[in-house]
Amino acid sequence: MVAAALTDNAVEIAPGVHWVGALDPHLRSFDIILKTANGTSYNSYVVRGKNGVAIIDTVKENFADDFFRRLESVARYDEITTIVLNHLEPDHSGALPELLKRAPQAKVYLSSRAQMMLKALLKPSGEKPPEYIPVTTDDTVDLGGRTLRFLHTPYLHWPDTQCTYLEEDGLLFTGDIFGCHFCDNRLFNDQVGDFRFSFEYYYAHIMRPFREYVLDAVALIEPLEINLIAPAHGPILRHAPRDYVHRYRELATPRLFNEARSEKTLVVFYISAYGNTRRMAESLAAGAESIGGVRVSLYDLEGGESGIFTDLIEEADGLAFGSPTINADAVKPIWDVLSSLTTVNVKGKLGAAFGSYGWSGEAVRLIEDRLRGLKLRVPVEGLRIKLVPDAGELEECRNLGEQLARHLTGRVEHREIDMAALA
Ligand SMILES: Cc1cc2nc3c(=O)[nH]c(=O)nc-3n(C[C@H](O)[C@H](O)[C@H](O)COP(=O)(O)O)c2cc1C
Repeated sequence: MVAAALTDNAVEIAPGVHWVGALDPHLRSFDIILKTANGTSYNSYVVRGKNGVAIIDTVKENFADDFFRRLESVARYDEITTIVLNHLEPDHSGALPELLKRAPQAKVYLSSRAQMMLKALLKPSGEKPPEYIPVTTDDTVDLGGRTLRFLHTPYLHWPDTQCTYLEEDGLLFTGDIFGCHFCDNRLFNDQVGDFRFSFEYYYAHIMRPFREYVLDAVALIEPLEINLIAPAHGPILRHAPRDYVHRYRELATPRLFNEARSEKTLVVFYISAYGNTRRMAESLAAGAESIGGVRVSLYDLEGGESGIFTDLIEEADGLAFGSPTINADAVKPIWDVLSSLTTVNVKGKLGAAFGSYGWSGEAVRLIEDRLRGLKLRVPVEGLRIKLVPDAGELEECRNLGEQLARHLTGRVEHREIDMAALA
């Protein structure tokens, strides 16, 4: 963080609108999964109208003192009529129980999905839940000459997420979307350092699994007149705020050229020490290709890192994984790719597993369990071949590929049920 002194007071971001958040420059990882080379900030905002004061989001619990000190420099607790929670994750709701004690008259506005979460969050305090009002797109709060309008933008990145638009000023308080973990006490995007990496990294690790929801939210936001975007983390976007909305549309839109638009895509990942699983993969791929209407890609994971395949996986209709069993498990490069699947939405894609083994052959079942856990469809039972596949076994692999292709193209052969056999 640049060491210039930041006042303990609030920072005015527009007339009568203040940042009252907290800076956390020394944080080096967030939510276990994110690296934060520049720390982060927990942004909270105060909006003053003629008839009342609104607080939009709070801060992480251990930063509550900073938040209350800044808040007290611009508003009295008895003036607070409105508390808006764009998102209830603890880094934004940590100071909420104390704020409710200090401003018990305030009404709390949140999305309907947030209500149960609010109860669960306030549970340990033993406090009676405050009066809260569920809101959705186009619901408004009149602060006197200033109107807060809500936008229902779920899953960015929790189910309860919403954005809040200050109509008269064109200010959009977005919660986590358009935010990033980048702490700099100069606060504004035209003054802080180059935070592009953090902005993109945040999208890739937090928003990417929800990209359809991102596109829905962007569609709601694009028609608005926007002078400033005030996210819940990182720089306040007052210079060219619309550029960040455009960038989100780009990021959430499929990014690979796809020559196979009229076809389904099946990506086959494999790894193989002695070539047995590789031969299985090649036969499976040939079988899938023979059906027509499916473009098959074959990747040897020994030659790649899991991260580089993310775009490919996001676009694929089907994913097949081949691994030998080594020490009763699938091998690490396979698990690396399988664990990277959490950063994209794979729900409903077709999944399959195969592999060579020597005696116990656990790998295939373990991969299938993981695929099901990630909510892929696994309609065809995985194929295990003991040691070196012979011609007949390679034919089985080919057959597996054909079946997968039929599932992808909707040309599954329906089994004839012999009624006599059921009797
Ligand atoms: C270090 C090592 C450990 C192995 N552990 C197992 C095992 O736990 N269970 C099993 O069924 N096969 C095991 N195998 C046998 C392999 O799964 C078998 O050789 C397989 O054919 C290798 O396939 P690949 O040529 O595709 O690598 C092991 C092989 C090696 C080299």
